[in-house]
Amino acid sequence: MEKGELVAIPTETVYGLAGNAFDVQVVAKIFAVKNRPTFDPLIVHTHHLSKVSEFVSDFPKKAQILAQHFWAGALTLLLPKKDIIPDLVTAGLPTVAIRIPQHQLTLALLESLPFPLAAPSANPFGYISPTTAQHVAAQLGEKIPYILDGGSCKVGIESTIIGFENEEVIIYRLGGLSVEDVEQVIGKVIVKTHSTSNPNAPGRLESHYAPKKPLYLDKKILEKFAPEEIGVLSFSEYLPHIPQVNQCILSPERNFIEAAQNLFSMMRKLDAMPIKVIFAELLPEESLGRAINDRLRRASVK
Ligand code: TXA
Ligand code: MG
Repeated sequence: MEKGELVAIPTETVYGLAGNAFDVQVVAKIFAVKNRPTFDPLIVHTHHLSKVSEFVSDFPKKAQILAQHFWAGALTLLLPKKDIIPDLVTAGLPTVAIRIPQHQLTLALLESLPFPLAAPSANPFGYISPTTAQHVAAQLGEKIPYILDGGSCKVGIESTIIGFENEEVIIYRLGGLSVEDVEQVIGKVIVKTHSTSNPNAPGRLESHYAPKKPLYLDKKILEKFAPEEIGVLSFSEYLPHIPQVNQCILSPERNFIEAAQNLFSMMRKLDAMPIKVIFAELLPEESLGRAINDRLRRASVK
C-alpha cells in the first residue's frame, strides 16, 4: 500500500477497495478501477478516534458521542475536512466522511500504515456491494493486486452515514446501524436519504446496488412471466407457485440482522440463476428492515 497500490479490505459492513487517502493519484486509481464518477465522494477509514482530529477541523459534541458509542462499527460521520484530505476524496465537498471499521485484519492494517485509507465498496459502480472476498475476486480480481480475505461480512450492508446541520443530526444513508440504535444514544434524528432533493449528497444516487437482471417490487410482475422465469427474494417464506430452487429466503426466523447479512449474496445468487426477472418482497419498515428496503428500492426497476 505504501507503493500506491490498491488492496481490497474486509470490513464488518462490506468489502472496500482501499488506497492511500492522502495520495491523489492513488485515489484517482480507485475511481478508475470502480468506474465510478468523481462526483461521488469516498469514505476515509482510520483505526483510532485520536486520529480523527488530523483529518477534520471540527468534531462537534454530538458527533463525538456517536463516535464513542458506535466506533469501531457501521457508522460514518460527515465532518468539516482539513486540507490534508484531497478534494478528490470528498468530490470537492467541504466535509469528509470518516469511519473506523470493525474488523481485526483491517484495523491491524490501518494501524501499520502512516496514512488513512480511502475505500468505497469494492464493486463496479452501480452493482451489488461485495460481502465476501470471492465476490470481490469475481468482479475486480483482474484489476487489483491483492484481496485481504477476512471471511463473510458480519453486518452485510453499508455503514449508516450521519452528518450535522446546525444542531440537528441527519442520517443521509440508512445502513448497518439502525435509526433506533442511533436515536437511543442521541435523541431524535432526521432521515434525508434522497439525493435528488439534496445537492449536498452527490453520491447517494437513486439507482444503485442493482443486479443485472431487472428487479421488481410490485407483485404484478408475477403474472407477467412464467413461474420458472421468476426468481424470488423474500423475507421469511417461500412464495407459492414459484419453483423453490429459484427462491432465496433472507431469514426464516424474520431476524433483521440475518436478513442484512444475506441480502447482497442472495441478490448475487439470484442474478446468476437461469431466470428472467427478480421479484423482491419489502421487509417491515423497522430496525435494519429500513436499510434493506432502501437497498431494494434503489436496486429495483422504476
Ligand atoms: O460500509 C461502508 O460504508 C463501506 C465500507 C467499505 O466502509 N463503504 C462504502 O463506500 O459504502 P461507498 O463509496 O460505496 O459509499 C459511500 C457513500 C457514497 O454514497 C458517498 O456519496 C457518500 O458515502 N459520501 C462520502 N463522502 C461524503 C461527503 N463528504 N458528503 C456526503 N456524502 C458522502
Ligand atoms: Mg458503494
